[in-house]
Amino acid sequence: MQPLQQPLRIALIGCGQIADAHLQEIAKLRCARAVAVCDLHRDLAYQAGARFGIEAIYNDHRRMLQEVRPDIVHVTTPAHTHHRLAVELLQHGCHTYVEKPLALNAGEVGEIIAAANASGRMVCVGHDQLFDPAWLECRHRIDSGEIGAVRHVESVLGYPLSGQFGALASSDPGHWVRRLPGGLFHNTISHPLYRITELLPDAEPQIDARWFARNNADFPSDLRVELQGGAVTGSLLFDTAIEPQRITRVYGTQGCLTVDLDAQTVERRRAPKLPGAFGRLETPWRNWRQSARCLRRNVGRFLRSDLHYFAGMRGLIEAFCNAIQAGGPPPIAYTEMRRVTHLMDRIFAEMQPLGVQPVGVQPSGCRTALDSRPPTAVSTT
Ligand SMILES: NC(=O)c1ccc[n+]([C@@H]2O[C@H](COP(=O)([O-])OP(=O)(O)OC[C@H]3O[C@@H](n4cnc5c(N)ncnc54)[C@H](O)[C@@H]3O)[C@@H](O)[C@H]2O)c1
Repeated sequence: MQPLQQPLRIALIGCGQIADAHLQEIAKLRCARAVAVCDLHRDLAYQAGARFGIEAIYNDHRRMLQEVRPDIVHVTTPAHTHHRLAVELLQHGCHTYVEKPLALNAGEVGEIIAAANASGRMVCVGHDQLFDPAWLECRHRIDSGEIGAVRHVESVLGYPLSGQFGALASSDPGHWVRRLPGGLFHNTISHPLYRITELLPDAEPQIDARWFARNNADFPSDLRVELQGGAVTGSLLFDTAIEPQRITRVYGTQGCLTVDLDAQTVERRRAPKLPGAFGRLETPWRNWRQSARCLRRNVGRFLRSDLHYFAGMRGLIEAFCNAIQAGGPPPIAYTEMRRVTHLMDRIFAEMQPLGVQPVGVQPSGCRTALDSRPPTAVSTT
C-alpha cells in the first residue's frame, strides 16, 4: 500500500482581488492546505488570513519563506511583478503557481522556465479555464471525434468595465493594469487566447489584431483578433460592452460545440438529418433535449454543491499538486506557456486601431513597452 502523502503546504503572495478565489479553492482540497499569506499591505494579508483561518501573516515574502518554508507559493500579485517573484521563489526551492499572465513577455517566461529547470522545482501558470469541468467535457467530445476535425474556434470574453475586475482599472488611469505593455488586454486576454491555442497548434499563425476605445474610454478598451493557422483558424472577441461571459464555439467538419463556462453547458449543433422543413423541427427538438440534459446534470451538481465559478482553478491547483507529488509532468506544458506568451507579444506589437480612434488614445505603450520595464506603482520588493 502507498504511504499517505502529507498535504502540500501553500503560501500565497498578493492578497488582492483574486486571492480569495485561490484560498477558497485550496480549502476544498485534500492534497494541500494554505499555511501563510503575504501582502505589501499588511491589513490585506491580515484580512485574508482572518477570512480563511490562516495565522501566518506577512508583509515581506522573504521573511515568510524563511519562517514558513512552504512547498508551493501562489503568486497573485500584479502581472509586472510575476517574473521577478517567480524566479526568486523557484531559486529559493519553492514550486510556484503564477496567476496569468505568467509574465510580461516571452523573454521573461523563458527565464522563469530556466529557473524552474535549474532548481528542479515546477512552475504552473493560471490557465485555469482549461481545467473547468465544461471545458474538459468539450475536449473529451472533440477528442472522441464528435465534431470531426476542428477547423475554427471562436472565443469570447465579455468584460464590462463596470464589473468587479474592470471597474478599478477603468476608473484609475494610474492603475497598474493600464500601464502594462498591452494595457487592459495584457491582463485579460490570456483566458480567451489559450481557449483558442488549445486547439490551434501553430507556433506562428497569421495574426490580425484591431483595438478600439468604446464609450469614450481614454484607453484601448476592446479587441478583436483573427488567427490563421495551417488547419485551424481562431477569432478572439474581447468586449467591454457586452455582459460578462466566457463562451467558446468550436467548429468542426461534422458539427459545432458551444461551451459556456458560466452556464456550465456544452451543446452541439449539427446539420439536421431530416430533409427540408422537417429539419427545421428536428433541430429545435434536438436542442431542447440537449438543454434538458444540461439542466438535469446542473441540478444534480447544484444539489451536490458542485457548481463553482472557479472550479477550473481548483482542478488546476490539484493537478499541480499531483504533478509535484508524482515528479511531473507539469499540468500546463512549458512549451504552451512560451507559445501563448509569444502570441500575446505579437498581438500587442502588431495590433492596429480599428477605424479612426479618438485623438490621444494610445495602445498603452504597446509599441515601446515590450522592453518589459515594469510599471512602478506597486513595489516589487
Ligand atoms: N484567474 C482569473 O480569473 C483572474 C481574475 C482576476 C485576476 N487575475 C490575475 O491575478 C493577478 C492579480 O490580480 P488582482 O486583480 O488580484 O490584483 P490586485 O491589484 O487586486 O492585488 C494585487 C495585490 O498584490 C500585492 N502585492 C504586489 N506586490 C507584492 C509583493 N511583492 N509582495 C506582496 N504583495 C504584493 C498588492 O499589494 C495587492 O494587494 C493578475 O495577474 C491578474 O491577471 C486572475
